[in-house]
Amino acid sequence: MKKTKIAVLVSGGGTNLQALIDFEKAGGLKHGRLCLVVADNPNAYALERAKNAGIKTEVVCKKDFENRNDFEKALIKTLEENGTRLIILAGFMTILSENFTKRYPERIINVHPSLIPSFCGKGFYGLKVHEAALEYGVKVTGATVHFVNEIPDGGRIILQKAVEIQEGDTPEILQKRVMQQAEWEILPQAAEIVSECIAKLRITSYE
Ligand code: GAR
Repeated sequence: MKKTKIAVLVSGGGTNLQALIDFEKAGGLKHGRLCLVVADNPNAYALERAKNAGIKTEVVCKKDFENRNDFEKALIKTLEENGTRLIILAGFMTILSENFTKRYPERIINVHPSLIPSFCGKGFYGLKVHEAALEYGVKVTGATVHFVNEIPDGGRIILQKAVEIQEGDTPEILQKRVMQQAEWEILPQAAEIVSECIAKLRITSYE
């Protein structure tokens, strides 16, 4: 069976990308292959992680384009030139337009650092999510991997994992715990689940 070609879109440190790389190295990604890492910012440390793992990298920078449409066109060109079948958003801080997401129905997945539908949608990203969870006073938070559609953080949920809040948590401490206990575990698992579905679909539909 042909492995599903995966492109990972990143903006920052890339610890979720690293979790995917480690999972693939350990043999967990049986139906997928990490083929490309695209950053929307040339300083993303995730690019170093990809290079160290021998994965092809590209930078498609928003500010190099006049508008979002042109930026997304360039992104699509890069993805399609590389035969991408599954797109993983791993700390990718650009919201993609409906035009983009409609092109890849159930072919884009995202990891979000809360239990959706709490603390998600426009404006909830990175540390802000954990700040909001602590401010609200929830006792349990976690992470979600979901398909990406035109509604920010609104696509079908694939996997979720809960993480307990502890006395004395700061947003930074909580962010780290949610990554370690939830994101780095469920993102690779979801990547394999969806890669397998796509690989099998190709056999039956000659996609
Ligand atoms: C992760 O916590 C990820 O869930 C979050 O940004 C961080 C990126 O870290 N993504 C979002 O908030 C998207 N809405 P990483 O670059 O080390 O993987």
